[in-house]
Amino acid sequence: MSVLPDAVFFTEENSALAVAERLSKTERTRLSDALIAVVGQVHTIIKEIRPTPEEWQQTIAFLTEVGHACDDKRQEWVLLADLLGLSALVEDMNSRRPPSATQNTVRGPFYRPDAPHLPLGANISLDGVGEPLTVTGIVQGLDGFPLAGAMVETWQANSQGFYENQQPDLQPEFNLRGVFTTDADGRFHYKTVKSAGYSVPDDGPVGQLLGRIGYPLRRPAHLHFIIKAAGYQPLTTHVFDGGDPNVREDALFGVKHGLLGHFRKSAGEAAAPNWALDFTFVLCPKKVEARR
Ligand SMILES: [Fe+2]
Repeated sequence: MSVLPDAVFFTEENSALAVAERLSKTERTRLSDALIAVVGQVHTIIKEIRPTPEEWQQTIAFLTEVGHACDDKRQEWVLLADLLGLSALVEDMNSRRPPSATQNTVRGPFYRPDAPHLPLGANISLDGVGEPLTVTGIVQGLDGFPLAGAMVETWQANSQGFYENQQPDLQPEFNLRGVFTTDADGRFHYKTVKSAGYSVPDDGPVGQLLGRIGYPLRRPAHLHFIIKAAGYQPLTTHVFDGGDPNVREDALFGVKHGLLGHFRKSAGEAAAPNWALDFTFVLCPKKVEARR
């Protein structure tokens, strides 16, 4: 006859408790607390779905494929988190701002940290393919005071909806990427081409899995920005084309009212129309964050 209580043995009924009890005996840290919460939820999900051994192996194989699809130019894990709204949730929870400030959004999977610094007015379209777009803007604080010397980093898809790191053999290195510095009036301007909306990649395990069940994979046309200024909270955001029909069903949950840009069309001398966008970015001082 056993002298040990039943609770020490793992059973289907007490599975989460058994692991939680083991974790609770380790040093209590934010990591161990998080693991107890995650394990509890995952055990509940597994009991609800009741995967067969074959389905469990498929799950492990999928997660393995996601890892294998990552390299220094592609991050499939970020794509998965983005498409499931996890990135947007973490972003929103950690970047609460006053209503008058420009909202933060996810960074997305196509960012590269090594984009070139360029003079104001430069053209970031290195192949010139697409309808010309002139972007002008101002970076200011909550009080409307313009921020000189702010860093404005931008990246975008081309007129077919592809980023240069998706098409390293078709687009020039660093096509449609650049870093600018605002002038004494807090303003910046550059030339580019109008980006197209796009489907997130469906050539990797994440796109293939979600595409199979008809999950929305399209994003409305947009430009990405990271804005930094001394003494202010960094801003990572998008400016979306308010006229794009997919603006209500962004695959990455990034669209917010304050991030809808008005892309104005004007008849140019060339056959292709010229477009213009002017946008105001409002940053929060760091001290606002400290008071929360
Ligand atoms: Fe994007």
